[in-house]
Amino acid sequence: MEKLGWGVLGSARIARKKVMPALMGASTGRLVALASRDLARAEAGLAEALAEAAQRGIYPDQRPMACGSYEELLANPQVDAVYLPLPNSEHVAWAIRALEAGKHVLLEKPGVKSGEEALQLQAAASRYPKLLVSEGLMFRHHPQWDLALNWIRDGRIGALRSVQIQFSFYSEDPTNIRNRKETGGGALLDLGCYAIAASRLIFGAEASALRAVQTFNQAGVDVQTRAEMRFDPLAGAEAASRAFWSTDIRAAYFQRLDISGTEGRIFMERPFSPVFHEGVRPVLFGQAGNLVLDPEPLRADHFTLQADRFSLAVQGRGLLVPEDGLPDWAIQAHYMDAVRQSANADTWVALLP
Ligand SMILES: NC(=O)c1ccc[n+]([C@@H]2O[C@H](COP(=O)([O-])OP(=O)(O)OC[C@H]3O[C@@H](n4cnc5c(N)ncnc54)[C@H](OP(=O)(O)O)[C@@H]3O)[C@@H](O)[C@H]2O)c1
Repeated sequence: MEKLGWGVLGSARIARKKVMPALMGASTGRLVALASRDLARAEAGLAEALAEAAQRGIYPDQRPMACGSYEELLANPQVDAVYLPLPNSEHVAWAIRALEAGKHVLLEKPGVKSGEEALQLQAAASRYPKLLVSEGLMFRHHPQWDLALNWIRDGRIGALRSVQIQFSFYSEDPTNIRNRKETGGGALLDLGCYAIAASRLIFGAEASALRAVQTFNQAGVDVQTRAEMRFDPLAGAEAASRAFWSTDIRAAYFQRLDISGTEGRIFMERPFSPVFHEGVRPVLFGQAGNLVLDPEPLRADHFTLQADRFSLAVQGRGLLVPEDGLPDWAIQAHYMDAVRQSANADTWVALLP
């Protein structure tokens, strides 16, 4: 089967360092072109991605092209699918333009910033039913998550009681898209989307209510967003289970996830951005805090795994995981709206069933 031709819109750091090398190494696709608003930046970005790929022993058969505009890339018939790592403010507009150009779309996280944007993108996507639109919350494709979720489903930690998530990094750089309101910056959109998605994935259910607190800087960017999500009690359970999460773009780098059940606990040291060469794994503890399982670190490139799954779905040889589909991240967007609403009104917000 012909490999899927990928085009990348924007010489973003995540593209140069992680996703373009992953696309070059994917068995189901090939990188056709990188587009920037500036040709020299596209050429430099391509050179950097090729060097990253070479460090991993990946050498594409054909050198990808550099394009000096996004329009040029969208007009290229060799490009079947577009990977879109633009600032959050640009996601929906360019996703729609890619669909109009007949391209499948893999959109960086968060695919949309709000429920309103989700409706806009859903309306556009419904006009192109043969084109796939997917979100790049790629952590879910790492096998450490399959292992942890299997432990939960197999009852290894009993009934779920709480999930605790912390995710932070420090940046004051005013040019960073995360520190600019107009580019869709802030902790909620950059990090909170991971915490919401992970909580929903772990519980395998939707929360019934949410309470959030946000701290904004003078530029109107939320530098810290925290929330508590309540999941209704299962039959026979004494109380509701909860996810507590804290995200911060002005605190030292940190990411951790703890899943506590009645009979045990799962700990993940790098739940969201595993480092390929180091490997990562969840660790299982028993009810008394005793170590039960500490598996060998799992080395996998979740960016390649997601690209392969996307390509197979486009080619009709596989399916997207439901969480990557547009209906699911429209729900994610409603959670983000609820976070803002709760923080603004300083109260609990009920979530739609
Ligand atoms: N899945 C993950 O693990 C992961 C990790 C990091 C980031 N991300 C997501 O990926 C996206 C990009 O993040 P990043 O840190 O890689 O961003 P970045 O380095 O700042 O790159 C964003 C790119 O967008 C283009 N762009 C178009 N309009 C722009 C504007 N008005 N202002 C600034 N740049 C503009 C620029 O490309 P040209 O100048 O070349 O046109 C720029 O290089 C975000 O949505 C982020 O949430 C995902």
